[in-house]
Amino acid sequence: MALTDRDLAVLWHPCAQMQDYQTFAPLEVVGAKGCELELADGRRIIDVIASWWCKALGHGHPRLLGALREQAERFEHVILANTTNAGVVRLCERLLAVGNGAPAAEWGPDAVPGRLDGHFGKVFLADNGSTGVEIALKMALQAQAQRGQTGRQRFAALRNGYHGETVATLAVGDCGLYGEPYRPLMFPVPMLDGLPYRSGPDAPRWNDASAEWPAIEAQLNALSGELAAVIYEPVLQGAGGMLLYSPDLLRRLRAWADAHEVYLIADEIAAGFGRCGTMLASHLAGADALPDFAVVSKGLTGGVLPLSAVLTTDAIYAHFLGDYSSMRGFLHSNTYTGNALAVAVANAALDVFAEEQILDHVARTGPQLQAGLASLAKIRAGLRNLRGVGMMAAIDLRREDGSAFAKEDRIGYHVYQAAVERGALLRPLGDTLYLFPPLTMDAATIDRVIAIAGDSIDAVVRR
Ligand SMILES: Cc1ncc(COP(=O)(O)O)c(C=O)c1O
Repeated sequence: MALTDRDLAVLWHPCAQMQDYQTFAPLEVVGAKGCELELADGRRIIDVIASWWCKALGHGHPRLLGALREQAERFEHVILANTTNAGVVRLCERLLAVGNGAPAAEWGPDAVPGRLDGHFGKVFLADNGSTGVEIALKMALQAQAQRGQTGRQRFAALRNGYHGETVATLAVGDCGLYGEPYRPLMFPVPMLDGLPYRSGPDAPRWNDASAEWPAIEAQLNALSGELAAVIYEPVLQGAGGMLLYSPDLLRRLRAWADAHEVYLIADEIAAGFGRCGTMLASHLAGADALPDFAVVSKGLTGGVLPLSAVLTTDAIYAHFLGDYSSMRGFLHSNTYTGNALAVAVANAALDVFAEEQILDHVARTGPQLQAGLASLAKIRAGLRNLRGVGMMAAIDLRREDGSAFAKEDRIGYHVYQAAVERGALLRPLGDTLYLFPPLTMDAATIDRVIAIAGDSIDAVVRR
């Protein structure tokens, strides 16, 4: 019996209509190196979506695997309540330096151990992105209550946002597709409309959200006394459609939140760790616009092992300190919090970000992704709304007259199939084709990706 048949007999795949696999079987992977997946039938296909956006440094990076092996020889996992170890302390010091926008010399492999003071002062660790977001939500709510603001029990979020798959993170997300069946379990969250969407850093008003702000501010003002926090994906909204908005919105949100004693939660899970060209996407808005909580995951371990981290400030932390009897502690526990293997790999990933100057590579190579999609759009009238920043680019698949295809046409899905046949793993979001490769992808591979994307689109949609 073929492995794919045995698969369908037992395995329920994530985020899928399982019936699709009966006609287009899951790809059997036997290896992965750099930007390529090796399939059981000998084909090699390019991982253009960095395996759900996490393989920031490609597959099988020797430095990360070396750190994993070395740590496994010492200890693989020990409860993080009541214990500590050098690796986890070092990682927190380095993450704070990263979050505070320090140069690589201050968080790279040769950085002096110890805490560098700055905006962020404390790190809480968890084991996946959704849980990291829930931790930030819980901390924000509890911090507000413990500083006497017990009426601040709501969250506002951005239209088209996505924050994970647990019930609370679905509630603060706006992807009906993923959340609708579970609506009865969710708390209501107002979604801020009218975001300053832009095509990228070259757009004329990339750094100016003044036209859109008054309407957003009015929505916030109507809620201000009830809000514990506003949550957002900084600059890049991933699952909601690979949309980009002006970083100026973050500066304006920061000023508004300070004036109204509302916290800001930046979900950097997809946008952070170099994807937007900076270590945190929040950095695109400058040092004065940092949030009260930044949640990172995915690229944090180069996508080798699950880990997430919530960076927050000393001021928030102070609201949780007190005698045990005050019951002010943050009593959240996940079994694998601070897993030593994941932490060792995360430390190695930071070494690689610094030593291989990943951000410089993104600055050099990222524009090729956007130029590549632009070249496809030039001769295909149906490709609309090109946008891109850092190491990502996206474009919408439309009819020649710009109208949307019918949902049942499943154009994006057919482009995915056509691309696999041509040697690339693309996974359009609906009819949005996006390129979100490992940050380390080289120029020649990007050229191949662009050619495959063009051929795949042509195979599905007539020019
Ligand atoms: C912005 C954002 N937040 C949260 C998550 C959830 O992370 P995880 O899948 O690790 O739970 C994701 C995953 O894609 C994401 O893109």
